[in-house]
Amino acid sequence: MKELLPLYLAPMAGVGDRAFRETCGEFGVDFFCTEMISAKAVLFGDKKTALLAETGKAERPIALQLFGSDPAAVAFAAEKMGKREICDGIDLNFGCPVPKIVGNGEGSALMKNPSLCYEIVRAAVQAASLPVSVKIRVGWDREHLNAAEVAMLCEKAGASRIAVHGRTRADFYRDGTLLPERIAEVKRAVGIPVIANGDVRDGESALRLLEQTGCDGLMIGRAAVGAPWIFSEIRAHLAGKPAPEIDRKEIIRHHLERAFSYKPLSAGREMLTHMAQYLKGFRGAASLRDRASHCERKEDYLALLELLP
Ligand SMILES: Cc1cc2nc3c(=O)[nH]c(=O)nc-3n(C[C@H](O)[C@H](O)[C@H](O)COP(=O)(O)O)c2cc1C
Repeated sequence: MKELLPLYLAPMAGVGDRAFRETCGEFGVDFFCTEMISAKAVLFGDKKTALLAETGKAERPIALQLFGSDPAAVAFAAEKMGKREICDGIDLNFGCPVPKIVGNGEGSALMKNPSLCYEIVRAAVQAASLPVSVKIRVGWDREHLNAAEVAMLCEKAGASRIAVHGRTRADFYRDGTLLPERIAEVKRAVGIPVIANGDVRDGESALRLLEQTGCDGLMIGRAAVGAPWIFSEIRAHLAGKPAPEIDRKEIIRHHLERAFSYKPLSAGREMLTHMAQYLKGFRGAASLRDRASHCERKEDYLALLELLP
């Protein structure tokens, strides 16, 4: 029953906001996740955090992702944010490779400290009234491939699900470094659902990762930026059907409308990243991208859309 496999939209800080998530949602995302949110920022009542935690009805079920290394702060944030009005579950980030995060002992730095992973998950599970899932990498580096050990501890602490990005922290996002066999190892080690993540770019790579890992679902991140319809393409491929027809201009227009409606102050800047990716699929992409770099208002973007073939 490959065609029923759940497809997850990966959390992506700075890209995966509500407008983007809802746009992907039109193409068959089964589970959403917010951008990562600092547990400490929740604890200190940071205002920007409230915006990151805004979720809509069209993106359910959604997990709210927290990062942090202090079990008490994570527990506080999990209790405060883990409410049905906001989300359907709390996800814990043990995979972020960014130096600023890792330098604080957070994100993928936690892969070096399995017992602390256990404490954090346990604290979150005890505090939240919703399920707690975890997202990990396969290890800190190739000498320390301990994803199965961390996953077993997370399960013991009460985690409901594990998503595994098949790279080590040391490998960051480098091409050719995905280790699907390590994701498969996690799948064999635990009884809770395991979601495979990394380098799914189309139907074929989705099927390959599924076969390599035997996982219970697939998580897609970067390939959805500029191509939110990838979810329907993958679904069709898994069902042995042709990819559905799409109207790219209309999809971009909807995304723009949502972005400017949810974040009128920052959408002008933030849509640049998405636009650069969307334009890749069009003839004359280089000059279109140049023009897009001057877009600020919604009207500028809509005028650019009119130029697309
Ligand atoms: C711009 C960007 C932001 C990301 N932000 C997060 C995040 O907030 N939380 C998280 O767990 N992973 C984050 N990731 C990692 C993705 O969720 C995913 O694990 C990774 O991109 C590999 O999947 P992919 O090959 O499908 O993109 C981010 C990745 C990118 C490229």
